[in-house]
Amino acid sequence: MDIAIIGAGNVGRALAGSFVRAGHSVTIASRDPEDAGSVAAATGARIGASNAAAASAAEVVVLAIPFASAPEVAAEIAEAVAGKVVIDATNRMSFGPAGPDMDTATSNAEELVGLLPAAHIVKAFNTLFASNQGDPISDGVQLDGYVAGDDPAAKASVLALVASIGLNPVDVGPLSRARQLEGLAFLNITLNIVNGGSWQSGWKLVGAPAPVATAA
Ligand SMILES: NC(=O)c1ccc[n+]([C@@H]2O[C@H](COP(=O)([O-])OP(=O)(O)OC[C@H]3O[C@@H](n4cnc5c(N)ncnc54)[C@H](OP(=O)(O)O)[C@@H]3O)[C@@H](O)[C@H]2O)c1
Repeated sequence: MDIAIIGAGNVGRALAGSFVRAGHSVTIASRDPEDAGSVAAATGARIGASNAAAASAAEVVVLAIPFASAPEVAAEIAEAVAGKVVIDATNRMSFGPAGPDMDTATSNAEELVGLLPAAHIVKAFNTLFASNQGDPISDGVQLDGYVAGDDPAAKASVLALVASIGLNPVDVGPLSRARQLEGLAFLNITLNIVNGGSWQSGWKLVGAPAPVATAA
């Protein structure tokens, strides 16, 4: 698969490494070309000349940016991603007087549909810390890679991508389930903040039923 990753931080680096190891062709772009260069050198990905250039050359685009940057990035790549799969790996959190909080009325993924109406938005990878995006095994357990989306073909291709890096792919339903996926990530993040965790915890649903369409 030809994949562009936008954002060369913790998530961009971890996913670039996993995708390259799985045999995918990866281009990474970021605001600072030096960051993209450093990830490319460490992982075997190529450097994208710009967000738009990376997205133009890819079949699938992964957003590994803070969601606050989404409007700016969406404006740059909107034309390039028309009809393509865009994976939203972002999370949603704010900090108020009572500590970390989250607006659950909608989700980043659903807001992204408004920013990139011609793309097929799929939520994936957000429930995994970067450590487990790079290594899907935690405490000897293969972690789940939850995928939510409204376009069946786009979701199928992302489930295959998730499986290709060693995660257990789980189809959790339509894109609106991104609200719960962003909630799962919030819970894991706050548990690590409150308890001084080592950011290695991950989600595994035991006994998950197979989706109706693929059940034996
Ligand atoms: N860290 C995790 O374990 C984890 C796990 C799951 C999901 N997430 C989510 O994934 C996203 C990225 O997290 P992260 O930890 O990788 O953050 P990070 O380390 O801060 O990296 C974010 C990257 O996005 C780049 N960026 C920001 N605005 C950009 C723009 N307009 N164009 C191109 N690149 C831009 C940043 O560049 P600059 O350095 O120039 O700002 C940086 O390279 C966030 O939404 C986060 O909630 C994080």
